[in-house]
Amino acid sequence: MNKNSTKPLNLFEYEKLAVEYLSQMALDYYASGAWDEVTLRDNRAAFERYKLRPRMLVDVSKRNLTTHILGQPILMPLLIAPMAFQCLACPEGEIATARAARSSGVGMVLSTLSTKSIEEVASSCDRVAAALQHRSHAPALQWFQLYIHKDRGLTRALVERAYTAGYKALCLTVDAPVLGRRERDRHNEFVLPPGLQLANLVDISGLNIPYQAGESGLFTYFAQQLDPAVTWKDLEWLQSLSPLPLVLKGILRGDDAVHAVEYGAKAIVVSNHGGRQLDGAIASLDALVEVVKAVDGRAEILVDGGIRRGTDILKALALGAKAVLVGRPILWGLAVAGEAGVAHVIDFLRDELDVAMALSGCASLEDVDSTVTSDQ
Ligand code: GLV
Repeated sequence: MNKNSTKPLNLFEYEKLAVEYLSQMALDYYASGAWDEVTLRDNRAAFERYKLRPRMLVDVSKRNLTTHILGQPILMPLLIAPMAFQCLACPEGEIATARAARSSGVGMVLSTLSTKSIEEVASSCDRVAAALQHRSHAPALQWFQLYIHKDRGLTRALVERAYTAGYKALCLTVDAPVLGRRERDRHNEFVLPPGLQLANLVDISGLNIPYQAGESGLFTYFAQQLDPAVTWKDLEWLQSLSPLPLVLKGILRGDDAVHAVEYGAKAIVVSNHGGRQLDGAIASLDALVEVVKAVDGRAEILVDGGIRRGTDILKALALGAKAVLVGRPILWGLAVAGEAGVAHVIDFLRDELDVAMALSGCASLEDVDSTVTSDQ
């Protein structure tokens, strides 16, 4: 951590500090949203529209933040969202993130577009797991995020590798038939710097992010490699590739959520991809209410987008989410202090959620019901 900087006290302060540690290209890639970034801002604003309704004179002397996601225990209702190219933030990249998630007892979703491979990330947690064995601790909840490539053989290989390496679910991103237009990346002509590569793809296919003048290389990669023709029917094929439960990430409507359940999804992540895909799309928190109602308990519902405080997690849970995914703040922690920085960011959220629960009269997550929040 930079000696001139004061110690961050919250995620916003981590974000300010991270600016000192990242190249402009990396910072813009991580921070940006699509077009005018309206949805990016609205994800945050939505949390301010909802208010908490604390209950008084409840014994909150013992508090329990643990929960289960798809049957697996975690120590708080938090997963690290799938995010590409984490080696742009620190040399250990996704390995540092995975280790911090493991030692903090939260979940992690590894991106298809990671800069450390599926296998490296899975095995990197062995040391942490061994160190934790004598303590009572949640097992690793690691999921693999999938982009369906036009090359179905390659897509199949990714799924098989994730299953063999021990990932516990397949998290299919459904909001990216093409990449959203992020103008900061276009200005920067985004590419990976020398030495970084698509760790899951170069070995089997030679694929990497291409340079294109005046364009984000990632936009070009999506246009060339990802399959924009994927529909609900492809989910059957996908589920035939492995026994992994299917999670759909990027659902924003009740009717799509019902389809997801009908096509076999066991969990849904209500998400607008951190405001990076369709600008003007509804804030995730606003969509959550409609999705929870439509699904009516038939799948677990998670949400991401704009979560920066423990009170945000509390509001999301009160609106029906089983857990939340946090993205960018993890990258700020990673940039500032690697594995320790990620663990520190998670600690802030854990501590804030714990205090917020106590102040709301909730001793456990079961007490966080729909009456704990309202939109006025
Ligand atoms: C990659 O998935 C991105 O949204 O940049």
